[in-house]
Order: sequence, then C-alpha cells, then structure tokens
Amino acid sequence: MEIVVSGIRPTGNLHLGNYFGAIRNFVKMQENNNCFFFIADYHSLTTHPTPADLHGSVKRVLVDYLAAGIDPEKVTLYLQSDIPETAELYLFLNMNAYMGELERCTSFKDKARSQPENINAGLLTYPTLMAADIIIHKATKVPVGKDQEQHLEMTRTFANRFNRLYHVDYFPEPVAYNFGEELVKIPGLDGSTKMGKSEGEGNAIFLSDTPEAIKKKVMKAVTDAGPTEPNQEKPQPILNLFNLMNVVSKPETVAHFEALYNSCQIRYGDLKKQLAQDMIDFTAPFRERIAELSANDAYLRKVVNMGAEKAHESAARTVRDVREIIGFKVF
Ligand code: TYM
Repeated sequence: MEIVVSGIRPTGNLHLGNYFGAIRNFVKMQENNNCFFFIADYHSLTTHPTPADLHGSVKRVLVDYLAAGIDPEKVTLYLQSDIPETAELYLFLNMNAYMGELERCTSFKDKARSQPENINAGLLTYPTLMAADIIIHKATKVPVGKDQEQHLEMTRTFANRFNRLYHVDYFPEPVAYNFGEELVKIPGLDGSTKMGKSEGEGNAIFLSDTPEAIKKKVMKAVTDAGPTEPNQEKPQPILNLFNLMNVVSKPETVAHFEALYNSCQIRYGDLKKQLAQDMIDFTAPFRERIAELSANDAYLRKVVNMGAEKAHESAARTVRDVREIIGFKVF
C-alpha cells in the first residue's frame, strides 16, 4: 500500500484550482492507499494572518475538505499544527538545506518580487517545511497541482541528502502525483494562468460561492474582441475560459463552442452564460454540504481530534528514528 501525503494552505475557501489540482485526487486515492491529508496552517503564517482570520480559514478549509468527499474514517485528516514533530523535523532538515538552493526556488523568487516588504525566513524555508510534512510519514506519492512540482523535487533532494549524510536508506523518494494524468494547472478568470486566492478577487470560483457570485465573476471574466480569422490561435484569456469549460462542462458543450470560435461566430456572452451555469451545477452538491457541516462544530472537533491522534502516531515514530540516526541517543 502506498503512503500518500498532501496538504492545502488555509487561505479562505477552496476554489476550483485546489479542487481539480488536489482534492479530486485525494478523494480518489483515499480508497486504496494509506492517506494523510492536512491543513497547512504553519505554512500560512508566512503571510501573518490575525488569530481570528487563521482560525476561520482553518475551519473553512476543513469543512470544504469534508464537503468535497474526504472521509475521515478512511484517511488521516489533520491540522499540521497539531503535529509539532513536523517542526522538529523541519529544524533538522534546515541544517542541511542551503541558502543558494532555497533562494533559487521559483515560489520564493515570485514572493520576494511580489511582496518585497515581507521576505521572511519562513518564506525562504517554505520548501523544507513542506519536505518535513511529506517525509514525516515516509510518503511515496504526493497528489498536487503543477505549481508544486519544484517543491517535490526539493523534497527528494532533502530526503536523499539525509539518507546519504547518515548512510541510511530511511526516507523513500516521494513523487508529485495526479491520478493517471499529467499534473494540472487550472487558470483564473482574470486572464492569468493560475486560479488562486492571492491572484485577486474575481479570479477564483470557490466551492462555497453562491450561484449569483459565480455568475457575476464569470460574466466579468477577461475576453477580447473575438477571432477575426478561422481557426485562429486562442489568446491566453480565451484559452483559459475553454480550459475551465473543459473541467466543468460536457465534451459536447466544449466542442460546440470550439466550432463557433473556429468559424468566428462565437459570442463570448453565450459562452460565459453556459460556463457559469455548468460551474453552478458542478458546485451545487458541495454548497449544500458546506452549509450543513459549518453548523456542526462538535463533529468538526471529533474529526480533528481523531486525525491528530492518528497523525501523531506516525510522525512520532519517524522523529524517534531520525533522532536516533542523527545521534541523539537515549542515555
Ligand atoms: P496551496 O494551498 O497553494 O494549494 C493546494 C493544492 O492545490 C493545488 N492548486 C492548483 N492546482 C491546479 N491549478 C490551480 N490553479 C491550483 N491552485 C492550487 C496546488 O498545487 C496544491 O496541490 N505548499 C502547498 C501546501 C503544502 C503541501 C505540503 C502540499 C504544504 N505542505 C505537503 C503537499 C505536501 C501549497 O501552498 O498549496
């Protein structure tokens, strides 16, 4: 049985990017693997949330996880901060993580460029914390979106380096994984190539969005004046709308609008109306469950406690071994 680990940062609700990049795979993988899925609340501290915001976001993501079909009886569903062993392993890994390789990491460079006033050490060492999350359960598969590929590469580097340094074969090599397919990147509605919360309001469709909110966002999505020649290549914002349609609409619907585009007869208003409706239908079952679960704090508490207990067992075993390997022996 494979050991599967993955996490999501609590920054508001889950959106279609998270869903198609990660959660959908979690739900498929929970059937036949030993899965550990968590809410990366330590990671979210790089952006300095207020205590109330942090707590609210963690609850929202937990509810969304459950609403999307993660079964806490089948997987270990937990909060990263409930397993402080992760912080200890992160410390050990940081001793062998080099400034150069951390500074070269694309996500660090992007953040350093976009928020020069907050380039903190947590951002720099984000990949070592992520490696700790993964190898603390000795994972082999990590279901993630395409944007996390480089972090997985670094995780393998840190795991292999530990093995080499201490002449052990302790940590397996984890790989980024998408159920039988290429890793995906779901585009945003603002013409950008990635759907994400930090990309700005209106760019992402959340699982919890009301039908009205979805309609509003989709109708505002960036388009252009339309094709002028048959079979013209699609510019990014238009390609994005088609890619989004590909994940929520029927293949016939996509083919219909492709044909209209290729013959220069497309009306973007019609395409958007259809896309909005298909997104509303797709998210409807999640919306209902989100409302139910949000009102059930007792159940959420039970889920989190159960997850913490199971995750702790696995994490404590690894950290005990790692301490021994490093030479922190029991007298
Ligand atoms: P995060 O919280 O940004 O995103 C969570 C997951 O959703 C995927 N994702 C997307 N996939 C496709 N298209 C998109 N537009 C899109 N937006 C998000 C991400 O690839 C990710 O799989 N560093 C991680 C969280 C993390 C983690 C871990 C993941 C912390 N420790 C250990 C795996 C294993 C992150 O920030 O993901």
